[in-house]
Order: sequence, then C-alpha cells, then structure tokens
Amino acid sequence: MSSDSNSTVLGVVLLVRHGDRQGFYQDPNTYAASATSITPLGNAQEVQLGGLLRELYFDGSSPSHIQNMNTGLFNDSQVLIRADAGDEGGVIYDSAISLTQGLWPNTTAWNTTLANGTNVVGPLGGYQYVPVESVESTNDVSLEGFTSCNTFNTAISAFYNTTEFQQKVNETKAFLNELPPYLDGRPATLVNMYNVFDYMNVNNIHNANFSKTLPPTFLAQARDLANWHEYNTFTSEQLNGISNIAGRTVVPSMITGLTRIANASDPLSFMVEEISYKPFLSLFNMTGATAANSSLAGLVDYASAWALEVRQPSSGGEPVLRFNFKNGSDIFRTYAFLGSTGDVPLSTFINTLAPSAVNTTTEWCGVCGNNQDRGCGALAQASAAAKPHQRISPVGAGFLGAGLTLAVALMAFGVLAFLGVLTFGRPQRRRAVKNSKTEKGSGDADSA
Ligand SMILES: *[C@@H]1O[C@H](CO)[C@@H](O)[C@H](O)[C@H]1NC(C)=O
Ligand SMILES: *[C@@H]1O[C@H](CO)[C@@H](O)[C@H](O)[C@H]1NC(C)=O
Ligand SMILES: *[C@@H]1O[C@H](CO)[C@@H](O)[C@H](O)[C@H]1NC(C)=O
Repeated sequence: MSSDSNSTVLGVVLLVRHGDRQGFYQDPNTYAASATSITPLGNAQEVQLGGLLRELYFDGSSPSHIQNMNTGLFNDSQVLIRADAGDEGGVIYDSAISLTQGLWPNTTAWNTTLANGTNVVGPLGGYQYVPVESVESTNDVSLEGFTSCNTFNTAISAFYNTTEFQQKVNETKAFLNELPPYLDGRPATLVNMYNVFDYMNVNNIHNANFSKTLPPTFLAQARDLANWHEYNTFTSEQLNGISNIAGRTVVPSMITGLTRIANASDPLSFMVEEISYKPFLSLFNMTGATAANSSLAGLVDYASAWALEVRQPSSGGEPVLRFNFKNGSDIFRTYAFLGSTGDVPLSTFINTLAPSAVNTTTEWCGVCGNNQDRGCGALAQASAAAKPHQRISPVGAGFLGAGLTLAVALMAFGVLAFLGVLTFGRPQRRRAVKNSKTEKGSGDADSA
C-alpha cells in the first residue's frame, strides 16, 4: 500500500524526547535515574520543536494542517499533553512546558475587554497557559514502565551474561581502556556503557576543555556501543517480551489517543507524550520500523519527535497512520512500518500492538513480578485479603489463618457497626477496628 498524498490530517499523536540536560546517572542494572536537570539549551530545543510543529500542523497553509485544529489560540478540548514525571521527571516535565511555549507562543490575541471598556492582555505579553499532565511514576506506570520492574531487571542481567555480551566485552576492551582519563572516575565498562556515553556527550556539549581534549572519534565510538547496549536492553524478539516493557506501557495511551482522533465526534486532535529515549527503542522495534530501517536501532537525539499522523484517505475508507520521525535537529522523515512501505490502517496498528499492551497497574505488577512498589503493594494486599490461600506458605499458614479469621471477623463487625446494625456506643471503637484491619492486611502481604 502506498501513501496517498491527498489525504487529510485528522490529528497526530507525538512522542517527544526531552531536551538537553546536565548531570545524569542511571543504574545499569535497574535503570533507576538521578542527578539531572534541564539546561537553557534543552529549553530552547523544545521551544524550537514546538514552533516547527506549529507551522506544520496548525498553519492553515501547511499541507499537513490538522483539519479541525484552531489556528489561533490554544483550545483545551483539542489538546492532550502528558509528561513522564519519574526519575528524570524535572527534565521531561520542563521540556513539555517549553514545547507548549513554542506550540502556542505568547500573543496579544490572549486578551479580554472588561465591562468598563479596559482591554487586558494576558501577562508576559499574552502568555498562554497550557495544562501538562504530570505522569508520576509512583501512581502511573504508563510512561516509565521500565523502572522497579523485577522481571525486566532479570532480563538485563541475563543479557550481561550472554556469550554475545562477553564477546563484545573482549572486542571493546582496548577502546574502553583508553577512556578513564575522560570519565572522571566512572567505570569504563561495557555494562556501564550508557553512562560512559552520556557523560562524554554532556561534557562534550557543555565543557570547552573536555571537548578540546577528547580524541575526535571517541564520542561516536562510545555512542555506537551505547546504541548496541540500549537496543539489546530495550527490545525483544517477542512483541510481548519483557524487554519491550518501556513501550508496552505506552501503547494503551497511544491507542486511546489515535482512536479518539479518528473519532469525528471527539474534538481531540493533538496529543503529546514527553518521554525519555527508552520507549522509542521498544516502540520502533515493536512497530517493525527498525526491521525496515536499521538506523532506528539506537538512541534518538534530544528533542526528537515521532509523529504518528492519523489521516483520512481521499478515497474514503478507514483512517490510516503515517510514521514520521525527526531525529533531534534533523528534518521529519517518513519511515516504513508494520510491514508496509506506506500508510497503515489504524486497525492494523491496534490489532498488532494491543495484545502486547500493559493496560493497568495490576497487569504491570504481574508482568514485572512486583508486589511492593508503585501501587503494587496495595494491590497485593487487597488480593491477599481476597484470596489468602493462594499466597501463604504452609509454615505461616496456621498463624496467619488465625490472624486472618480475626481480621475478617473484625472487618465484618466494622461493616455492621458502620451500617448501624451493631452499636458500640463509642466512635473511637470504630477506629480501633479499622486499625486492626489495616495491620493484619499488610502483615499478610509481607509474608506472601
Ligand atoms: C477597569 O477595571 C480594571 C479592573 O478592575 C481596572 O484595573 C481599570 O483601572 C478600570 N479602568 C477604568 C478606566 O476604570
Ligand atoms: C526487535 O528486536 C529484536 C532484538 O532484541 C529482534 O530480534 C527482533 O527481530 C526485532 N523485531 C522486529 C519486528 O524488528
Ligand atoms: C540520530 O542522530 C544521531 C547523530 O546526531 C545518530 O548517531 C543516530 O544514529 C540518529 N538516530 C536515528 C534513529 O536516526
């Protein structure tokens, strides 16, 4: 199937990487990240990208103009913006804010005429305030499904133990041994390759002495190895493989966004998810884009944008998707995906990816083997209370059995008391019942 150049753009779902940042460290065994902050350059990159997207999608004279999109002021009903607020959260959230400033710049059109005839322009020259949903990793796994994921951590250490990895260690030993003078004490190992590259990259951008002393090929060589390391960490041979977890948790919000855009009675036309580089690796692999174009098997630059355009073919019929990707400061290029060289029906995208999607926290806790973090503790506790016999070891069973019986009895009393069937005459009595229920519940979960 080829691409119809006369199709109309109904809307777009964008995945955007954050802008330039400083610092940064991530644990190579768990991908827990820390110690990073956005830079003025990072803000500038995102504002610039926002301006470009504005010209491309909101300007009535652009061939990719979104059919029903307001060309003037920001319109809340047409837009949804979400930002990963996890480990790298400050950087990613700030990037999303900068992006919105490029998308909807300040304008005197943001003004109002008061009853007394005075005209008031919004502050800061008519700054437009655009809501950005802060996707907190503690209560929403969707944009950062890869941290605290125990089965994923197991897959990472399995990768480090493959003969392929050991071979690469041998092949790269000579190069890595040359790097310590440029790493300020960081381990120059293949396991630590992402941090090695990132440190060199950050300093090459921000530290004049460093960029003068670094031998010319070193950064590209380190980047190559980091690409290899990260691609193998964040992709899987199976769509529903655990190593695709960074993409699998994003899939549900993408499908919701694409479906809403295709639905003519829903005003949503423009959705952005601001993220780290990891979901790009998984999703490019899962959509078969990497199979069609191997240049996608690596790190995307800062402020990269993947635009999945929802288009209505001029011949009518089902809406289709077009895969456009802009790598940092490069231009947007169209890529083949899902086994097609052109546009792909929306239903093909959904049918291919939905089965591998991790849709809820409960699913994520199961897939990741986690019964403690990110809301899994409360869920494990609830399910242990509901199905105690499946989770309790024989040794603890007798003790817990008695404890549970008591807890259940107390809960029953609590409910009856609450309904007024049983009256104890003292409100403080109810508090005591509630406390014992909570303690018993968490005790069960800990022993599971
Ligand atoms: C009109 O109302 C605004 C807001 O209360 C006030 O700042 C402004 O001075 C008023 N203008 C006149 C001409 O009274
Ligand atoms: C995804 O990546 C894996 C390597 O991790 C590769 O074996 C697989 O073929 C890739 N899938 C696609 C559809 O390209
Ligand atoms: C993005 O650009 C960088 C160079 O800035 C390059 O190393 C990388 O391979 C490119 N990635 C893709 C997916 O095109």
